[in-house]
Amino acid sequence: MHRRATPGRGPSRRAEGMPWSGVREILDLALQCPNPIRLEVGEPSFPTPAHIVEGAMKAAQDGYTKYTANAGLFSLRTAIAKRYHRLYGVQIEPEQVVATAGGIAAIATSLIAMTDPGDSILLPDPCWPNYEMLCALLGLGVQRYPLQPNAFVPDIAQVEAQIDDHTRVLVINSPANPTGAVFGEEILRELLLLAQQYNLFILADEVYDELVFTSTPYRSFLQVAAHDPHRVIVVNSFSKTYAMTGWRVGYAICPEGLSVTLARLQEAFTSSPCAIAQKAAETALEGSQEIVTEMRETYRRRRDMCLIEAEKLGLRVIKPEGTFYMMVDIRESAQPSRDFAKGLLMSESVAVAPGDTFGPQGEGFIRISLASTEEDLRRGLQRIHRYLRKSSEQM
Ligand SMILES: Cc1ncc(COP(=O)(O)O)c(C=O)c1O
Repeated sequence: MHRRATPGRGPSRRAEGMPWSGVREILDLALQCPNPIRLEVGEPSFPTPAHIVEGAMKAAQDGYTKYTANAGLFSLRTAIAKRYHRLYGVQIEPEQVVATAGGIAAIATSLIAMTDPGDSILLPDPCWPNYEMLCALLGLGVQRYPLQPNAFVPDIAQVEAQIDDHTRVLVINSPANPTGAVFGEEILRELLLLAQQYNLFILADEVYDELVFTSTPYRSFLQVAAHDPHRVIVVNSFSKTYAMTGWRVGYAICPEGLSVTLARLQEAFTSSPCAIAQKAAETALEGSQEIVTEMRETYRRRRDMCLIEAEKLGLRVIKPEGTFYMMVDIRESAQPSRDFAKGLLMSESVAVAPGDTFGPQGEGFIRISLASTEEDLRRGLQRIHRYLRKSSEQM
């Protein structure tokens, strides 16, 4: 008997329901414009340092061309554990580390390990849109705790007000994308207390931890939760610190039992991160860290230049304490941020990330990226200011 071909049914509701990033929308439009100033980008403006690339070439020649253990190479996990001792004085075991295909895979597997469908995740507002994409795919509810638009830090009472019986995980991202805010130790402690009180997991996304400009040393959540590590997963990545976005290496640091779960979960997705890229990441940790300082100082210089330029223009920006992003206040235009970003691209040829893509609290802002040249940043800010003035005069 001949089986009749079933007509294609199209993508699932789940796939269709995944929210799309407004940054991508602007990026796609920017690609159609001749020579726009690109301030929407979310990746370092530096090439991967040469010695890391050489480490990868050597790894390929040495035969690191096969699957690795699900949790990654033990030598890489050991180097990561040493990093935490070097930077934060915390003692973690290599067995707690699971290497993943970028920080995003560490977040995805962590969320699966910590939740069941129907649970809810408490996200900062505004935040990196990919968390919400994952929640949609995993059948997780999203609750949002507002970050105050003056400095983009949370008010603990407002975080608590969002918690209900479904809440399972509190996501903390500091230094934060898109705001550049760095949460002080006291806030982190209060968030931990809340998590303890309501028995929540904490997912601390620290992928920008080496891009901090404050004089007070950055505190990892591993330090803050040293006495109660069982509810905390810290996620990190090589993407931002070592300009390695394309290599796709990140990791999760988990309580020991959970690391076994995460490693098993990886079998279903990627099995393990790319072996060659893992060796490149190991080279990054073992080599000189001067490049990290150099990149950070470049971002700091660009940030300081933007603060001065914005002040000269009378443009309101929120001073970032870390990352390579800066929020620009466009509330006086009374245009939704998405329309503003599109209008700015069309009339001034400047691409920026619209604030609404990061959550309701991002509305009224656009995000610019310091991963651009000083010249582009200066000209970009001048054009943003001109467009803002024009659009507020039209009100
Ligand atoms: C806040 C935040 N977390 C995690 C990531 C994940 O980065 P990757 O998957 O490249 O390691 C990013 C990337 O932009 C980010 O901004």
